[in-house]
Amino acid sequence: MSNDIDLSRVPRHVAVVMDGNGRWAQKRGLKRTEGHAAGEEALFDTVKGALDVGLSWLTVYAFSTENWRRPLDEVRFLMHFNESLLLRRRDELNDLGVRVRFIGRRSGRVPKRVLRHISDTEALTAKNRKLTLTFAFNYGGRAEIVDAVKSIAEEVKQGRIDPSRVSERTISRHLYAPDMPDPDVLVRTSGEFRTSNYLLWQAAYSELVFTDVLWPDFRRADLFSAITEFQNRNRRFGGIGNPD
Ligand code: IPE
Ligand code: IPE
Ligand code: MG
Repeated sequence: MSNDIDLSRVPRHVAVVMDGNGRWAQKRGLKRTEGHAAGEEALFDTVKGALDVGLSWLTVYAFSTENWRRPLDEVRFLMHFNESLLLRRRDELNDLGVRVRFIGRRSGRVPKRVLRHISDTEALTAKNRKLTLTFAFNYGGRAEIVDAVKSIAEEVKQGRIDPSRVSERTISRHLYAPDMPDPDVLVRTSGEFRTSNYLLWQAAYSELVFTDVLWPDFRRADLFSAITEFQNRNRRFGGIGNPD
């Protein structure tokens, strides 16, 4: 519970792969899409928990560049569901002091109307500072690196970047959200042990936390246990760390 968390050492950024919606639904004899719908409560409870413990950045994987491979009906549902979630709940998020942002490709097959609601929501909540809730939507870590490389190449061509001076910082500055700190913790639900192209560059030193909980069952208590687990890890970043 939140009592176990050392509030003076809350991570800055927790990233979550919200996985297991389909299996949650199938276990109940429901359609997979009903699992996605049930994920909304999990998300909002997690957001409220994040606000309670003073987390500044929460990033959630909502739709990957690979999720286009799913049946058209499910893809359509996910596009519409994410849009309607924004429209129904952005005022509430705004009142809670949440800044909503999106990372991912804002092109390709995402309907124009959805893109418009995304930028409207970002504008509405832009001044909020309690928590930045970032949706990774039409997001792929490799696509993000490709897009960064393209824009760096463009600046090289224009003479604004000297190729011999390209550094890790150059790449970080060309990602979708250059001001976003790297995630301290990366949580994946549903008992899968992979990151599925999530925050490939940013998660280089994230502490990985895997849980069997299916996303629709995830609640703030699960966020708190991930944070507690993180606080018990010894991060070394290649050094020798803090000997206990
Ligand atoms: C995660 O749940 C949501 C998205 C990928 C959009 P899944 O739909 O992947 O659920 P499972 O993994 O099939 O159970
Ligand atoms: C990752 O889950 C993407 C999201 C949660 C949006 P997937 O269910 O798509 O990942 P894989 O296919 O199991 O790797
Ligand atoms: Mg899945």
